[in-house]
Amino acid sequence: MTTVIVNSGTPVAGMLWTGSLGWLEHPADNREVAGSNPASSTSNKKNGRRWDTFMPVVSGSNAFELAEALAGELGWEHHPLEVRRFPDSEGYVRVPQESIAAIRTNPVVVVATTFPDSGIVEALLMLESIYDVRSGDMHNLKGEGQQDMEDSGPGIFLAIPYFGYSRQDKRFQQGEVVSAKLLARLLTRRCDGMVVLDLHAPAVLQDLDVPVSFVSSMPEIAHHLQEYVQPDFVLSPDKGAIERASHVAEAIGCNFSYLEKTRIDAHTIEHKAKNLDVDGAVVAIVDDMISTGGTICKASDALRRQGAKAVHAACTHGLFTGGAITRLANHVDGVHATDSLPNPRSVVSGAPAIARGVQDLIQRVL
Ligand code: R5P
Repeated sequence: MTTVIVNSGTPVAGMLWTGSLGWLEHPADNREVAGSNPASSTSNKKNGRRWDTFMPVVSGSNAFELAEALAGELGWEHHPLEVRRFPDSEGYVRVPQESIAAIRTNPVVVVATTFPDSGIVEALLMLESIYDVRSGDMHNLKGEGQQDMEDSGPGIFLAIPYFGYSRQDKRFQQGEVVSAKLLARLLTRRCDGMVVLDLHAPAVLQDLDVPVSFVSSMPEIAHHLQEYVQPDFVLSPDKGAIERASHVAEAIGCNFSYLEKTRIDAHTIEHKAKNLDVDGAVVAIVDDMISTGGTICKASDALRRQGAKAVHAACTHGLFTGGAITRLANHVDGVHATDSLPNPRSVVSGAPAIARGVQDLIQRVL
């Protein structure tokens, strides 16, 4: 076998994700991949339950570093699953034999970003593999190990750093799919609770069969801005971001305002003119996500016209599509994002917020 190490993060056809070694070329499309990740041991006791080995945080190909950081936050153990792509691009997931005991005897957190689309399929495959292992369905054609085991009971939690399709949260026109709701229903089929980081509009995930913990990285973003930007003023670029941005302003102790935005199309927005008291101020624009950068650039232009001395942009989800980084560089003095998805402006960890959600779900569910 020729071993080729390439950059982590993006699924690669015919390659095997091995965690710390990155993507390795897989020898053949024969569904016989072995894995290993020896884990250490810790203990926990809650509501009379004893989890007497280590608590696993599992990940696939798109949230390896974040899962590692989350495990560190929680004092748990990171177990990378075996994930790879067949030559035709279909995904493959397997729980490594070494992780089975930990996953069966402890609550488990599955970290998966549902973006891009391949991340959705991988999340579903990961959840199904964990569900089978925990429910004791170990049947396999090779007859490896015990075929049937006891059901481990509830304890699968899905942590979604970036929930893809979150913006299609309403039926804006007749005949449309409410994609965010569909996705949530699919993802919660095999878990006992879900943590979602800075979801665009949480209302869409009401009425699910399992509890959802909505968490936010705004406390960590505020801390970062205070340390590196020291804003005098925080601006929400639209009404939807008021709650998040005002939290940041409050944490920093600075002035706050918001703009009213109308979206013309995916690439064009308009802001209603508003007088902002920003003459000579350092301003941070805070939003849940930056995609094309259009919203931030327009808001920044308005701020500069009113005398802002410096303008920074901060968000949880740095999608940065279609040249957004270059466009933003011409309009703002700095861009600050979390690592909810891999991006070139990731300076804040989403792990503390997700850890808060995991602890919340454990209290509520187990
Ligand atoms: C929408 O309301 C979101 O909160 C963001 O403001 C939006 O997705 C940003 O998109 P773009 O960067 O393409 O303007």
